[in-house]
Amino acid sequence: MDKTTLPRVYAGQKHRIPFFVKLLALSSLASLTCFGYWFSYILEWNHGSQVPLHAAQIQARCRALNTKPGPPSDFYDRTVSDRFVEGTKHVWIRNATIWTGRVQGLEVVRGDVFVMNGIIKVVGHVDLQSMGLNDRDEVEIFDAHGAYVTPGIVDLHSHMGVEPSPSLEGAQDGNSFHGPIVSWLRSIDGLNTHDAAYELAAAGGVTTSLILPGSANAIGGEAYVIKLRQTKERSPTSLLVEPPFGLNTSDINYNIPPRWRHLKHACGENPARVYSGTRMDTIWADREAYNEARKVKETQDAYCEKALAGRWEGLGEFPEELKWEQLVEVLRGRVKVQTHCYEATDFDGFIRLSQEFKFPVAAFHHAHEAYLVPDLLKKTYGTSIHRQVPAVAMFASFSRYKREAFRHSQFAPKVLNDVGIPVIMKSDHPGIVSRWLLHEAQQAHYYSLPEAAALSSVISTPAQTLGLDHRIGFIKTGYDADIVLWDSHPLALGATPQQVFIDGIAQFIHPLTASKSVSGLKAPKTPDFEKEAKAAVEYDGLPPLRPKESTPQTILFTNLTNTWVRKGNKVHSIFNDLTSATDRAERGVVGVKAGNIICVTAKGCERFKSLVDRTVDLEGGAIQPGLVTYGSDLGLEEIAMEKSTIDGPVFDSLTHTIPKILGEEAVIRAVDGLQYQTRNSLLAYRAGVTSGIVAPTNEGGFLSGLSVKFSTSALHKLEPGAVIKDVVALHVSIGKGAQVSTSTQIALLRRLLDGKVKGEVGYWFNQVKKGKVRLVVNVESADIMATLLRLKAEIEHKIFTETNLHKELKLTFSGATEAHFLARELRHAKVGVLVHPRPYPYTWESRRIIPGPPLTPRDFVSYLISQGIEVGIMPQGTGEASVDAWAAQNLRFDAGWIHKISKGRVSKIQAFEIASTNVDSLLGLDLEDDDEEIDPGALVATKGGDLLGFEGKVVAVLQKELGVIHLFE
Ligand SMILES: *[C@@H]1O[C@H](CO)[C@@H](O)[C@H](O)[C@H]1NC(C)=O
Ligand SMILES: *[C@@H]1O[C@H](CO)[C@@H](O)[C@H](O)[C@H]1NC(C)=O
Ligand SMILES: *[C@@H]1O[C@H](CO)[C@@H](O)[C@H](O)[C@H]1NC(C)=O
Repeated sequence: MDKTTLPRVYAGQKHRIPFFVKLLALSSLASLTCFGYWFSYILEWNHGSQVPLHAAQIQARCRALNTKPGPPSDFYDRTVSDRFVEGTKHVWIRNATIWTGRVQGLEVVRGDVFVMNGIIKVVGHVDLQSMGLNDRDEVEIFDAHGAYVTPGIVDLHSHMGVEPSPSLEGAQDGNSFHGPIVSWLRSIDGLNTHDAAYELAAAGGVTTSLILPGSANAIGGEAYVIKLRQTKERSPTSLLVEPPFGLNTSDINYNIPPRWRHLKHACGENPARVYSGTRMDTIWADREAYNEARKVKETQDAYCEKALAGRWEGLGEFPEELKWEQLVEVLRGRVKVQTHCYEATDFDGFIRLSQEFKFPVAAFHHAHEAYLVPDLLKKTYGTSIHRQVPAVAMFASFSRYKREAFRHSQFAPKVLNDVGIPVIMKSDHPGIVSRWLLHEAQQAHYYSLPEAAALSSVISTPAQTLGLDHRIGFIKTGYDADIVLWDSHPLALGATPQQVFIDGIAQFIHPLTASKSVSGLKAPKTPDFEKEAKAAVEYDGLPPLRPKESTPQTILFTNLTNTWVRKGNKVHSIFNDLTSATDRAERGVVGVKAGNIICVTAKGCERFKSLVDRTVDLEGGAIQPGLVTYGSDLGLEEIAMEKSTIDGPVFDSLTHTIPKILGEEAVIRAVDGLQYQTRNSLLAYRAGVTSGIVAPTNEGGFLSGLSVKFSTSALHKLEPGAVIKDVVALHVSIGKGAQVSTSTQIALLRRLLDGKVKGEVGYWFNQVKKGKVRLVVNVESADIMATLLRLKAEIEHKIFTETNLHKELKLTFSGATEAHFLARELRHAKVGVLVHPRPYPYTWESRRIIPGPPLTPRDFVSYLISQGIEVGIMPQGTGEASVDAWAAQNLRFDAGWIHKISKGRVSKIQAFEIASTNVDSLLGLDLEDDDEEIDPGALVATKGGDLLGFEGKVVAVLQKELGVIHLFE
């Protein structure tokens, strides 16, 4: 026990203290707590004043009442981490390119990292002898061959453990619905230890996460920081990093600074909706609660004033209220307030709250409108004194799913960084799957957040915001050994950890083999978006997105690296990869007239020279097929969670009461619900997605209806080319957890395919039976897919016995996360799949995934392709089709990601196919007889690179059918 706990104030009071009392005061705090209460009342001293026996402890507590949290002054004297696991070998990572996080994220060191006892011992040059080690000491050596090493990724916003995967009803512990104020709840109390997310996130380089309660409440409770390493103890508590003292009723030491705590707040729609209130009600709930806390705090302060002066008379016990304890700590500035807050109204309200009750805010989370109101953010309490502007923790492109997120811009990180507000990218796992958090930073970087800020946004900045930057978020001597060894520059598309160390422990048994020639030590050279970023702010988040110009002119595109076009159901390269500059000058030329390619190569275009209206230098870019998006509600929505802006879900005879007049047999057509000029459509168009296929929205029902293929750029449905094909395929969903059993759903499908049903439904299933329309089944589970393959064979056999004709039932599975179990069977049955490129075990039915490197040698998509299965991809969103229209614009990165992650096994041509021609053919738009040289589909011109990476920017779309080129700049 430190000397400050000695009862020195007693001296001033001239009290004689019996020796045994001193002894007791010096004994352990635990025994004081046991006997203290009792002694304080039975021991009376002279002058009649009551001095509680544990007076010393009370005074220590009072003195420490406003001590700011932080590491103890001797923190860096530690030689062994408190999280060290006995028996762990030292780790020596040699010859790495080390991004340290220091110097505002600008420092990169070439050299080694040495790890001992869970702590980084050396960064730079390692000399075993000078460390007192010799060859006999067990050291695990990792040769990085020059590859990138960074500190572990820190996820500031995660619901791992409290919303575990696969999602089951028995473990939904993220949100309490017991009132707008539940500040006394603690996420650690709901932390499930079997969440599949821990290991998967670590496989993405994430080593630390802040586990927040959900956003159903104005104050949702305390959040805790965990590391994503399984412990021997297997308990939630053993995952914690620097938990607040006293969490487990031990170890309160008032002589060292307390540890940072975290509290979840929420503004806006979520708490207001859950409690059928308004924004006004939410802020009032906050004020009422903080007012209670303020009273407790003032009582404590008054108590301590007396206690420290030794005026014990009538003082009694230290005033405490367990219920308001967290909020009192907020008022003492010892809690990092983490606030879910989207829009200007809510920032304003919350900032007034922070001013009224005088507490700082660590970060605004989601904060989709933050970039529009940076000056407001700077008014948060404490900002001018401590210069701590709250950080803003965002998604890159996940937005517009609700009204509050409608005005988000992918340029928000850049805009905020430009005005000096700390930028953090976060997952909201499982909103965005935490494993892919780095991809959020990569996108932010693509949209002009500088390299150093982009890396910091998922590493050092969140570490600072957590108050843990004394031990995580940097590669620095004395820091925790949370280290990621990457296979390429971490901001490159598809960057994957070769190995991940948490507390110096390697997490993967079969790490990705370090490639001898580590390519791409430089961050991608991203496009110039200065104008677009400015427009986003200027137009209050809703900048015009239509092409700048639509022209039939003759345009000469020069300086191309590649030109790919659609030919029937395939993609072809017009000229091979042009690597040498002279080749490029000669061949990388494409002439376009009225949206049609009229010539290729400089020589070929010579004779059109006099016709050329203008020349566009693509700076090493490309012309490629427009991508086709399927798998979200794009085309039927504007703001997914606002009923008045979407087409809405279909009536389903199994789950809904159908309007009588429609009859049981109506088949809904998506074409009837199309909406044009939605921001998601226009953004997709700007990202090279020129068309979409969408089926009627079916939320958990069986029959969805008929899909439509539409243009993402048309003004309205009656414009030429707006509806590309009225009826594409017939869609049904079969899964568990529906209104009726899976086997009932199969029975229904059998009946429908049997031709026993009349009316419109009967007609369309008959078309399927005749092989004229493709049946697309939304299905995840391998068992259900196997059942469907049997049903297919059964129906085909029946057709054969009835008609003596071999008819192929055209069937496609969409979702199909467990398809790899049936690779041979799918190939044999000629059933292709539409899948998400990065599978995640959201549900029990989709839990058996191929996670991909570094957990498995192969990734899901390249494995399926290698098995001869036709694969198309759907944009990687949240796994909820009805809200994922925002993700359509990322289809190009998803396709490029597969090319990169497969290490070239999936070629660029195949990458284009899985995001265009394959999507068409898997939905029944087979162009078998089409031997036209160049397919009618639109072509996309990109500057600086192609659609499949972070270098290219879409500058034009060639609309052959419309006879024009759309120009974006
Ligand atoms: C580090 O790795 C690079 C790339 O493999 C290699 O060229 C270089 O020689 C290595 N340096 C040392 C000191 O091993
Ligand atoms: C309480 O937590 C501390 C670390 O914060 C740990 O050393 C101690 O063993 C824990 N006690 C119990 C009873 O879990
Ligand atoms: C072609 O593109 C490159 C960048 O890839 C650029 O440096 C060059 O100036 C461009 N123009 C010509 C005529 O080569």
